[in-house]
Amino acid sequence: MAHKLFSYIAFITFFLVFFHFSTSVVSQYPYGGYSYGQLDYRFYDRSCPRLLNMVRYGVWAAYRNDTRIAASLLRLHFHDCFVNGCDGSVLLDDTEDMKGEKNALPNRNSVRGYEVIDNIKADVERFCPTTVSCVDILTLAAREAVAMAGGPSWPVLLGRRDGISASQQAANEQLPSPFEPLDNITAKFTAKGLDLKDVVVLSGAHTIGYAQCFTFKRRLFNFKGSGQPDPTLDASTLSNLQTMCPNADSSNTNLAPLDSASTYRFDNMYYTNLVNNVGLLESDQALARDPKTTPMVNSYSANSYLFWNDFGTSMAKLGNLGILTGNQGQIRNKCGAVNL
Ligand code: HEM
Ligand SMILES: *[C@@H]1O[C@H](CO)[C@@H](O)[C@H](O)[C@H]1NC(C)=O
Ligand SMILES: *[C@@H]1O[C@H](CO)[C@@H](O)[C@H](O)[C@H]1NC(C)=O
Repeated sequence: MAHKLFSYIAFITFFLVFFHFSTSVVSQYPYGGYSYGQLDYRFYDRSCPRLLNMVRYGVWAAYRNDTRIAASLLRLHFHDCFVNGCDGSVLLDDTEDMKGEKNALPNRNSVRGYEVIDNIKADVERFCPTTVSCVDILTLAAREAVAMAGGPSWPVLLGRRDGISASQQAANEQLPSPFEPLDNITAKFTAKGLDLKDVVVLSGAHTIGYAQCFTFKRRLFNFKGSGQPDPTLDASTLSNLQTMCPNADSSNTNLAPLDSASTYRFDNMYYTNLVNNVGLLESDQALARDPKTTPMVNSYSANSYLFWNDFGTSMAKLGNLGILTGNQGQIRNKCGAVNL
């Protein structure tokens, strides 16, 4: 009898403790608790329980074939969220009445990874038809990509809906350019509800991936019309870059790693490069020069844990910009086109 009573109490205690911990884990999510508006960490738990596995598998298969895809998926998500909010608008093909974002200047012949999202979406449609938005797939894929490249992971709220339009003009006007000063870039971020810290932290994404020579070439041969290279670039970096990007238009689309110290590894070398004056884009190097951002660059260079932690926080913020929920927008059947 005593024995039975004991196991009964143990059983109840187990559940009390279990639920206590499971709820406290949920409430420990640092991004505004269990849900955000109508978003929810468990949005598809019932309607598409294997979603995360399918996204992971799709990203992994692409990554196994092409390691750079991790960088490309991360950038694709950024370019989606920065124009008309995170609504999958970047994935829409042009139509007769709509010039979309794919062909905007910062995206055309530059942004990659569309097929990876299309393939995952096709997989997801087979198991959970018309249930999961393209934008949620892209948001999860960006997180998985960073984790696969050795970076941090962060909780992603789900339940975003796909937009029904895209704007080439907005993409041209609103996405940051590597040729503009930090204050202009910061203004573009604050217009979206992000802040200066987010600029510095999210720029750390340039710890993976590549840039075409035309995005930084003026630093190599004719910096600001001086006829000379950017005097702040160190000599050996300059000569390496000049070899990769010879002084002719034919080299414009050659690729150089954004972080040559560890091109495929999501680490804090990006910041160390800036401290060492070997950042690739002018807009990157500017972060180490402006007194408003130098201290952050130094601390991320010194402390990768701090960078990882802050990167997760800023990515969660980015992923919640301008979202559609509830019965706004739609769940696209295919990511490249609005449903008829
Ligand atoms: C702060 C302002 C930013 C500017 C001016 C900028 C600019 C650029 C440029 C010019 C490229 C090279 C594109 C090409 O040559 O085709 C690039 C690549 C990249 N950007 Fe940014 N970027 C910024 C912020 C971000 C943010 C916030 C993220 C993500 C959170 C991001 C992620 C990436 C990644 C991962 C790549 C490499 C993509 C690949 O290899 O496919 N960037 N960026
Ligand atoms: C593999 O990666 C290359 C780019 O490096 C791409 O062109 C090709 O389509 C990819 N193949 C598959 C099966 O994903
Ligand atoms: C930066 O912003 C100012 C004010 O909006 C603008 O006049 C200037 O042309 C911008 N600079 C660049 C290089 O885009």
